[in-house]
Amino acid sequence: MGSAPATGTAPQRPAGETPFPAGFVWGAATAAYQVEGAAAENGRTPSIWDTFSRTPGKVRNGDTGDIAADHYHRYRDDVALMSRLGLKAYRFSVSWSRVQPTGRGPAVERGLDFYRKLVDELLEAGITPVATLYHWDLPQELEDAGGWPQRVTAERFADYAAIMAGALGDRVGMWTTLNEPWCSAFLGYGSGVHAPGRTEPASALRAAHHLNLAHGRAAGILRDRLPAAAQLSVTLNLHQVRPLTASTQDADAARRIDAVGNRIFTGPMLRGEYPGDLLADTAHLVDWSGLVRDGDLAEIARPVDVLGVNYYTPTIVSTPASGTGDTRNDGHGNSDHSPWPGSEHVAFHLAENRPRTAMNWSVDPEGLYDLLLDVTRDHPGLPLMVTENGAAFDDYMSPEGRVEDPERIAYLRGHLDAVQRAVAAGADVRGYFLWSLMDNFEWAYGYSKRFGAVYVDYATQRRTPKASAHWYADVIRHHALPPAPEVRA
Ligand code: FCB
Repeated sequence: MGSAPATGTAPQRPAGETPFPAGFVWGAATAAYQVEGAAAENGRTPSIWDTFSRTPGKVRNGDTGDIAADHYHRYRDDVALMSRLGLKAYRFSVSWSRVQPTGRGPAVERGLDFYRKLVDELLEAGITPVATLYHWDLPQELEDAGGWPQRVTAERFADYAAIMAGALGDRVGMWTTLNEPWCSAFLGYGSGVHAPGRTEPASALRAAHHLNLAHGRAAGILRDRLPAAAQLSVTLNLHQVRPLTASTQDADAARRIDAVGNRIFTGPMLRGEYPGDLLADTAHLVDWSGLVRDGDLAEIARPVDVLGVNYYTPTIVSTPASGTGDTRNDGHGNSDHSPWPGSEHVAFHLAENRPRTAMNWSVDPEGLYDLLLDVTRDHPGLPLMVTENGAAFDDYMSPEGRVEDPERIAYLRGHLDAVQRAVAAGADVRGYFLWSLMDNFEWAYGYSKRFGAVYVDYATQRRTPKASAHWYADVIRHHALPPAPEVRA
């Protein structure tokens, strides 16, 4: 029954428990701007998130990532904490403007040194480093020159990828080009709820193509310059789209959101073409034949070794006529501008009768199960990695200094169970990264939303593992889920 645990030393679960596949990677994730702080140290220049967070009204409470969780100064303690929790891998991102200030020209060694030291510390602790090149923090000067809607930004990104391959190629074996390019393009340039805060539907589509191109070019460079064993990936926040009803209108709404939410990336990256229905839905906004140049698709379709999938909650859609949907509230923040160019009329719904997280996202592990199997059906044999999954709740510390977060434990249990069932049903899922290792700067929500398994007291920067961190450590130790708690009648 099931395959053997990855380590010979894993304590056995009681009979009936299915272990995760051998070699399944247990990790936790963060991103540079969300945790590092040290915003102006050692030559780092502002990114679009520094500018955006300083713009009044853009981030809740006027919070910025200036200090964040101070990971830049506390990385040694943080790695020691990861080690105590038994993490096998750490997914972090590189701040582009820390290593190549202004996004052009030579690298800054002091900036690179931070990542070299972080990686060395991880390796010494036996934790696999997983580096993401871009988690949304474009150097501000590149935005001033036009940002992602401009093709030249993809060229700049390729130069930056070359710098990083040179600096970390000897010690990082798992690389991700982009994190959630959908958010970069459509929240950054469409609805404007993320940096740089532009609200230009055509620019958002152009940004998506240039992010695809940036991925392809960086993948080519990494492939050429890294050792043959290096694993390349890109991380997508694939929307698990469900029509509200069985009507043909709602089916069309789902098709549209799947096109501009998912297939705009998986099409060129995994099939070498943009889907015809996407091109038709957006033809009034963008001249795709001018935007996509000869050779672009071949570059974008360079094979990846693993596809990273981030999942939090499903996306339930209808045409506005069905039910009480809202064309603005799609779970990605409220704006008068849509992040769905060409499909602005689609309405979004929240499932009734389901628990919700502090983000008001419904807890729905079946969505993750379906997503992993849908991707497997559409791209047979593609290895997958859940690169983010987790939940924000209103955590607080008890007078005794404990953080009890049973809802997060229930969330993680449900989603890990879904991963296990998806594996049993044929999905090749290689690992799971909890979002997030610790509480951090949650973009437009600032520090008001806590996603960490580790609680951060921002006044003192003291870290306290929540009950969920201990629970996750136990899962990792046993390479299997603990028995489900008894359900009382
Ligand atoms: C994802 C982001 C990550 C974090 C989680 C909650 O979209 O990649 O940085 O903010 O959402």
